[in-house]
Amino acid sequence: MRHDHHPETVWITGARQGLGAALADIWAARGARLVVCSRRWEDGEAVRRAAQWRAAGAADAQVATVDVGVAGQVEDWAVQNLAAGLAPTVVIHNAAILGPRAPLTEVSVADWEEIFRVNVHGAFFLLRALASRCDRQQPIAWGWLISSVARQGRAGWGPYAATKAALLNLHQTFSAEIADSAWRSIALNPGGTRTAMRRAAVPDEDPLTVPAAADVADAIVRILDDLADGRIEHGSDVDVRNWL
Ligand SMILES: NC(=O)c1ccc[n+]([C@@H]2O[C@H](COP(=O)([O-])OP(=O)(O)OC[C@H]3O[C@@H](n4cnc5c(N)ncnc54)[C@H](OP(=O)(O)O)[C@@H]3O)[C@@H](O)[C@H]2O)c1
Repeated sequence: MRHDHHPETVWITGARQGLGAALADIWAARGARLVVCSRRWEDGEAVRRAAQWRAAGAADAQVATVDVGVAGQVEDWAVQNLAAGLAPTVVIHNAAILGPRAPLTEVSVADWEEIFRVNVHGAFFLLRALASRCDRQQPIAWGWLISSVARQGRAGWGPYAATKAALLNLHQTFSAEIADSAWRSIALNPGGTRTAMRRAAVPDEDPLTVPAAADVADAIVRILDDLADGRIEHGSDVDVRNWL
């Protein structure tokens, strides 16, 4: 594990379970300051998880209840943590929902609106809240969790695929807009990963046939190190599988 990027301050959305939690575990172990959120925590869970991340090595761990699809909540979360001196060196747009796995004609308006609210609006709200307030000469690595269906639609994956295509496009536009700054952006396609979302998306699959979230998260952290050091091109999108 590399330790030459300290002090790191890592913001992760959707860190209660899955890849977001696994990413927080890795950055905690290498002493980062964590600023994480998820839409809900059980009673006492946020406090307990913050303590666990600190015990694992995190220099700080701020764990918040934020629905990324609500602009005001994201703004408040950002303003509060920036005021506390926790300006990000890494931002991971990870929070997402799968939505209905169904043909487009069977998708309800409510489900359509909900998945765009979380997956697309959520990432834009955080981008807006942070990018408008952070110093462009201080390095930030921005990571966007996409999917293979972002690049090519697939039957039965319509709403989710459309949101991931939108994220990939947001990353491309943002990359062009920040090209002259110290910021770097990368889109990350994790590939099938053993999480609750994967189980819901492909229920018939033997979970042990896809990589564990911890292993995929480890690869993502190495990719972000390479992005920060210029070994991976700013603005690109990568298949995390190639780093496993
Ligand atoms: N797993 C895969 O095979 C795979 C493949 C390609 C891409 N991805 C992408 O990788 C990322 C992580 O996926 P995952 O498999 O770890 O998913 P996951 O297990 O479902 O975890 C997603 C996390 O995001 C949180 N979240 C959902 N809606 C939110 C909201 N409105 N506000 C804040 N937090 C919210 C969830 O909260 P709760 O704990 O309350 O549910 C959960 O903690 C996603 O962007 C996903 O699209 C995953």
